[in-house]
Amino acid sequence: MTRGRFVALEGGEGAGKSTQARLLADALSQRGIAVVLTREPGGTPLAEQIRSILLSQDEGPDLRTEALLFAAARADHVARLIEPALSVGKWVICDRFVDSSRAYQGGGGGLPDEDILALHRIGSAGLLPDLTLLIAVDPEVAEARTAARDAGSSDRIAGRDAGYHARVAQAFDTFASQEPHRFARIDGNGSPEQTHAAIMAAVDQMQAKRA
Ligand code: TYD
Repeated sequence: MTRGRFVALEGGEGAGKSTQARLLADALSQRGIAVVLTREPGGTPLAEQIRSILLSQDEGPDLRTEALLFAAARADHVARLIEPALSVGKWVICDRFVDSSRAYQGGGGGLPDEDILALHRIGSAGLLPDLTLLIAVDPEVAEARTAARDAGSSDRIAGRDAGYHARVAQAFDTFASQEPHRFARIDGNGSPEQTHAAIMAAVDQMQAKRA
């Protein structure tokens, strides 16, 4: 059995990842590919419970505990959903993965990248996606989209200040430059259809390289 492909979508708030994850999963299904569409934090019952702790409006965990909880949620997600699906040949489309921890808890929060990667090695055997789609949007576009979506009630992490989110965006950009074999940069400023077309082109390019 050929192992399935693992594709993650990454980016800041309001990049349109969730819409694009759905469009990608639908397009692959239409090609006859078995697809699992999932998200982080979450994707399994245990990880969804951790998600509600992480995103609640309460004071919440401190930075290190937060990083450990994201890694724990991911470990369960990888062990119980992602690896089993890949091993039977299904494709996994994941709305955020470890690069979100590197960008938010690392870039935004200030934890060293090697510590985030160490947690990922311990929790998830260092599993990395075959392709990570970094959807980049201009800050004004992101702001307009999140304002329309959240109507003033963003979660604990999305509600952090502009400086935090600027560091997150900068970190994602750095990862994409440092690891071009693993990332595809996608312009998310246009219509959903335009962004979807760019994503399909990146997925086809990955397949062509690996065929
Ligand atoms: P979600 O509602 O899924 O937001 P979005 O639609 O922007 O993806 O909430 C996920 C939040 O958790 C988001 O603010 C990013 C944050 N996050 C981290 O800080 N670290 C992580 O490892 C992950 C997966 C998410």
